Order: sequence, then C-alpha cells, then structure tokens
Amino acid sequence: MKGIILAGGSGTRLHPLTSVRSKQLLPIFDKPLIYHPLTTLISLGLNDILIISNPNQINDFKFLLGDGLNFGINLSYEIQERPNGIAEALIIGESFLGNDKCALILGDNIFISDKLNSSQITDFKSGAKIFTIAVNDPERYGVVKIIENKVMDIVEKPNEFISNSAVTGLYFYDSEVSSICKTLSPSERNELEITDLNKVYLKNESLEVFQLEDNDVWMDAGTFGSLLDAGNYISALQKRAGRLYGSPELAAYNQGFLTKKHIKDLIKNSPKNSYYCLLEKIII
Ligand code: TTP
Repeated sequence: MKGIILAGGSGTRLHPLTSVRSKQLLPIFDKPLIYHPLTTLISLGLNDILIISNPNQINDFKFLLGDGLNFGINLSYEIQERPNGIAEALIIGESFLGNDKCALILGDNIFISDKLNSSQITDFKSGAKIFTIAVNDPERYGVVKIIENKVMDIVEKPNEFISNSAVTGLYFYDSEVSSICKTLSPSERNELEITDLNKVYLKNESLEVFQLEDNDVWMDAGTFGSLLDAGNYISALQKRAGRLYGSPELAAYNQGFLTKKHIKDLIKNSPKNSYYCLLEKIII
C-alpha cells in the first residue's frame, strides 16, 4: 500500500498567511503542519509516499522533506495545476500507485489516535475505507448515515441532521481508484469531489467505515481559530505528557524505518533548541 498527501489548495480562509506560504507548511507549535499527516501515514506502516501540491509551492515541500531519507522512507512529488478537487489527487497519483492500494490523507489534517496503526492496513482488503468521527457541527462536513453498522448514505454539508459522524480526511482505496476517479464529473463548484468517489464505492457496496472514538482526536487547521487551537493543543499535550505528537522521525523509528543511530545523527546535525531535543529525550 502506498500513501498520498494532498497538500495544495487555495487556503483562502487563511489569507494573508497563505499568500506566501502553503497552508501545510504553517507552524503547529513546533513543527510544520504537514509533519502530522506524514506521521499518520508512517504510523500506518507506509514508507512510499507521494506529496501533491501547487506548482509554485511544491519546491518548498521538496526543500523541507527531501527524498524522505531522513525519515527512512521514499518521498515523491507531483503537481496539481489548480485546486480541481480532492479526488483529482488519485488521478495525478495514478502512475505512482501502479497496481497498489492507497491511503490518501489531506495535508492539513491532524489525527491523534492509537487506532491508526498498521492493523488498519492489514484489515483493508479491497473497496474503500473511510474514517469518521463524531462532531458537534455536522452541517460543516461530509456526514455518513449509518443504520445497524451499514452506511446508507453520505451527504455533503447536510442542511437537516442525519448523524453527527463526519468523514475525516483519511481514505483508503483499492487499485481501481484512479480509473473510477476518471469517470467522475466535476461538481457545481467545478471540483472532482471525494464524496462523489466514496458514493461510487457505496453504490458498489464496497465502502467500509471505521468510526474513531471520543478519545481520538481529529483537527483540520484550515481557519485562523483551528490553526491556533491545534498549535496550543499540541503544545499542551507535549508539555504534559513529555511525548511528541506529529514527529515523522519518531513514527519511523517505531516502525523500524529508522535506527537509533539514524536518530542520533539527525539530532547531532540539528540546531540545539529545535524539537529534536525532545526526540533525543524520548528515544536516546
Ligand atoms: P480545503 O480546506 O477544503 O480547501 P483549501 O485548503 O483550498 O482552503 P480554503 O477553503 O480556505 O480556500 O482543502 C482541504 C485540503 O485538501 C487542504 O489540505 C488542501 C487540499 N486540497 C488540494 O490540495 N487540492 C484541492 O483541489 C482541494 C480542493 C483541496
């Protein structure tokens, strides 16, 4: 299984912060936002990951993350010419994916959950799998209607209450996904919608839902408030627990992609007061 991080978009709600810097490179306390989805994919056990971003921002990601060697993984890059919708990522990633299955994650999504580990990958056989979580404002999200553990419908930003289970920005797909995306038509806002893709799998009775629980955390950092909240939350958690959240290096170490020697070298080559000090405390 391969991973894709979609890290383009317009970031209009964060202007002017996003006029010179991609949203996914803005700081969440001590790390760039994209470290969080990258950590999630590595924690799932993935080590071959494609990053997709805008033509004028892709080089910033390459500069920050390189070929993935520092994380013990392989990173590749592709451009999305315009924000044509989330599902377009799976067409752009077609040759990268080949015949492999894929986990797609949005570059501004933060997950803190011990349920997102390699058992999810082992359990995923075919079709599609989406991850939902209870929210108190379902009208802002894609929402699933579930009856007796079966998904009956997915509704984008429902006007009337159908459930509080919001679809998060992490999706698993089988190797058919790129072909299916090519059959989708753009929506009214002229995007290839991820909800339309998931509805195809739903219609084919091959959509599975994994419900995250109340003690799991899902945040997107797409507004000024949520960006600030996410940073404060990570800061408070790290201070209290002495743990690191959103560290691709730690995730890679836990997966066996990096050795203690790699981590020691990383720390040696990093500025003294960076977050690598914490990494040193935790691992060495
Ligand atoms: P959104 O937050 O829905 O859109 P945005 O990032 O463009 O922000 P705004 O609404 O403030 O203008 O996108 C969710 C994530 O998906 C985000 O990380 C950007 C990414 N994305 C793309 O990379 N390409 C796209 O075509 C779309 C629609 C989103």
